[in-house]
Amino acid sequence: MTSTQFPDSFLWGVATSAYQIEGAAGEDGRGESIWDRFCSEPGRIADGSSGAVACDHYHRWRDDLALIRTLGLGAYRFSIAWPRIIPQGTGAVNSAGLDFYERLVDGLLEAGIQPFATLYHWDLPQALQDRGGWAARATTDAFATYADVVSRRLGDRVASWATHNEPWCIAHLGHEDGEHAPGLHDPAVALAAAHHVLLSHGMAARVIRGNVPGAPVGIVLNLTPTSPATDRAEDHDAARWMDGFFNRWYLDPLFHAKYPADAVADRVARGHLPVSGMPFVKPGDLATIAQPLDYLGINYYARAVMRENGTGNPESVSMVPKKELTDMGWEVYPEGMRDLLVRVHRDYAPPRIYITENGAAYADGPDAAGRIRDERRIAFFRGHLRAAHQAITDGVPLEGYFAWSLLDNFEWAQGYEKRFGLIWVDYETQTRTLKDSAVWYRDTIAANGVSAGSP
Ligand code: FCB
Repeated sequence: MTSTQFPDSFLWGVATSAYQIEGAAGEDGRGESIWDRFCSEPGRIADGSSGAVACDHYHRWRDDLALIRTLGLGAYRFSIAWPRIIPQGTGAVNSAGLDFYERLVDGLLEAGIQPFATLYHWDLPQALQDRGGWAARATTDAFATYADVVSRRLGDRVASWATHNEPWCIAHLGHEDGEHAPGLHDPAVALAAAHHVLLSHGMAARVIRGNVPGAPVGIVLNLTPTSPATDRAEDHDAARWMDGFFNRWYLDPLFHAKYPADAVADRVARGHLPVSGMPFVKPGDLATIAQPLDYLGINYYARAVMRENGTGNPESVSMVPKKELTDMGWEVYPEGMRDLLVRVHRDYAPPRIYITENGAAYADGPDAAGRIRDERRIAFFRGHLRAAHQAITDGVPLEGYFAWSLLDNFEWAQGYEKRFGLIWVDYETQTRTLKDSAVWYRDTIAANGVSAGSP
């Protein structure tokens, strides 16, 4: 008995990323990435850790594949580590790196699971950072070459490609806010990086389509629905600002071949761009960025409720008591996912949409009997899947959902303190244990719907 039944073709998945699970940082010819370097700098990571070992997935991938099979998934979203493929960012190709992903892809296909590959989930080869990283236009050529190498080798078997994961995080967290690698604090550099990431997306999409006619190619954006905290005009403007900064800065070039004029004006007013506009945008760039996508991947975690803070600056405020937030301090707001999907469909009309990430960090660990009763995570997924279903009923072409994440893993600047997994990882022993949420997700997938029971 289910209360919320999904279409038969609905694709159920889980997502991971290379640096967060693989470990084996120095093995089989892998080059250094900006995250290896960043983690080695004191004070960058909350628990002083790194992804050097992580979940040791590089060695344990067969066992992890068995876990993926247990869940009954239709698709598995993973990322490919650029420094394993082209260790210095340009130049020599490391075939051992390609072999690893080939084994994984073949293993998935044997199990009847569609491989969804992401080319860039933040682990830029350090050698490219040394030459300017995403702020340098030449990095776009390096990325197109990397996409060429990977798609030639795996293009006949990968079911769906994503060029980038979350350009906002790459640009803003990495180059403006400094919380992520490479840890810079320069708004002008961040805007150049954002543009080059988008440009490299378009270039790589062309390359992949050239190598693999008909291959589905998309990009994954983290998007957040924004609303004003009160009806004050200043708060409405703060919400508009956030939408421009976070969402439209990426959606508008990808779908409308232009940057949002109001958000550009905001950046000029703050001195982040010259009055003349964006010096890094060259003729033809926006057409490259805006070529048709086969799908849009959306990562949804929370909403942003905005207010003007009294000094003329926008800030986001929390709408629920602290105890109701996830361990990341993020509000659980499933309705936001429906609002976001409906809005993206209305304003940008991608032909297909996947929720490529959605999940929650809760620390719940094994009880005396070794069972992990993570009811809050089950409630989180249940609420969001209902919202996803409502969006489908509203007419949004939402074709699949990927839970974040298969395993507890290295949560970037938060280290191992934040656990997003359906599966518990004991980092001392590398033992994996299905949490109650994994069993619940397996049952939900088997039923192709969310049951009426509680939580
Ligand atoms: C997203 C990232 C993913 C993970 C989740 C919690 O922004 O894509 O790697 O860290 O957040």
